[in-house]
Amino acid sequence: MTTPVRKVTLINGDGIGPEVVDATRKILEAARAPLEFEHKDAATRYGTNLPDETVEAVLKSGCGLKGPTATGVGTGQSSANVGLRKRLDLYASLRPVKSLPGVKTRYEDIDLVVVRENTEDLYAGIEHVVVPGVVESLKIITEKASTRICRFAFEYAVKHGRKKVSAVHKANIMKLSDGLFLDCFRRVAREFPQIQSEDVIVDNLCMQLVRNPEKYDVMVMENLYGDIVSDLCSGLVGGLGVVPGANIGHDVAVFEAVHGTAPDIAGQGKANPTALLLSSVMMLDWMNFTEHARRLEKALWKVYTEGKVKTGDLGGTASTAEFTQAVIHALA
Ligand code: NAI
Repeated sequence: MTTPVRKVTLINGDGIGPEVVDATRKILEAARAPLEFEHKDAATRYGTNLPDETVEAVLKSGCGLKGPTATGVGTGQSSANVGLRKRLDLYASLRPVKSLPGVKTRYEDIDLVVVRENTEDLYAGIEHVVVPGVVESLKIITEKASTRICRFAFEYAVKHGRKKVSAVHKANIMKLSDGLFLDCFRRVAREFPQIQSEDVIVDNLCMQLVRNPEKYDVMVMENLYGDIVSDLCSGLVGGLGVVPGANIGHDVAVFEAVHGTAPDIAGQGKANPTALLLSSVMMLDWMNFTEHARRLEKALWKVYTEGKVKTGDLGGTASTAEFTQAVIHALA
């Protein structure tokens, strides 16, 4: 019986986006993953972020594989990323953070999962000037979204044989908003007595993660804390170039690296495609193409274990193209 082919909408993005997307596509094709790609843009040439056509294409294919997109700081257009997550209701951001063989870091056996709520919190973008010099920015937390993300975290823990879920919050200060999130977490936790549950205040968590990361397993949190904590976690395993991510909704998902457009190295052929490649491994697992996922992961692990071909962010000298070829060679 032949495996049915799944359609994937490829979104190049900006900066190093096209370089890492191209590398990942080449490796997926070499691995003969049963995928059919269609390219869509994250912005139009008239400057509109996130064309309707792109959103509709992802909705239709059910799956996007995306390079990072640039967002102006302080002014300018809203983020294409945030827009995509909102419009497709990709409510769960999933970021597994795992040590890679041969990448020397402070700790050797990091194995953490950050589950971040993706649709609300301060990212609702509701801001206004109250009077000149005073700005109000609203933090929206709802029972529905908090319950949904906490349930996602526990279901993930059950499915992947994890032992503990920690709720990360600041309910000692934001008693109503983070208090609501914590209440939802505790209610959901009672439905999963086989999984340990605990809660931890976000600033303490950051300190603990740097000193004793082995204390944590799956962590679930609101949008802003998730943004910051996932970058902290990526620092534990070698940086932004090696951490994958997925934005998951009902029947639709967009897989993307945690890193941004890396303007400092864009267009120079230096980008490390590992993060997007690992995101594509998550994508293959999500599609139940488990055999292809393991094959790709094994090839990547082989390249890292041998340690001969490494990109600049990990102290090596290999170009994106050389690294891509090494992974393709390891697939054989
Ligand atoms: P960044 O992740 O682009 O870069 C931070 C540092 O990490 C830089 O030194 C960069 O060279 C390095 N780096 C990142 N990815 C790498 C890779 N694959 N290989 C080698 N080195 C890598 O973060 P920054 O500078 O804060 O953001 C730049 C732009 O990216 C901004 O416009 C931001 O809004 C956007 N961004 C987009 C994201 C997305 O589309 N998912 C996520 C984060 C940021």
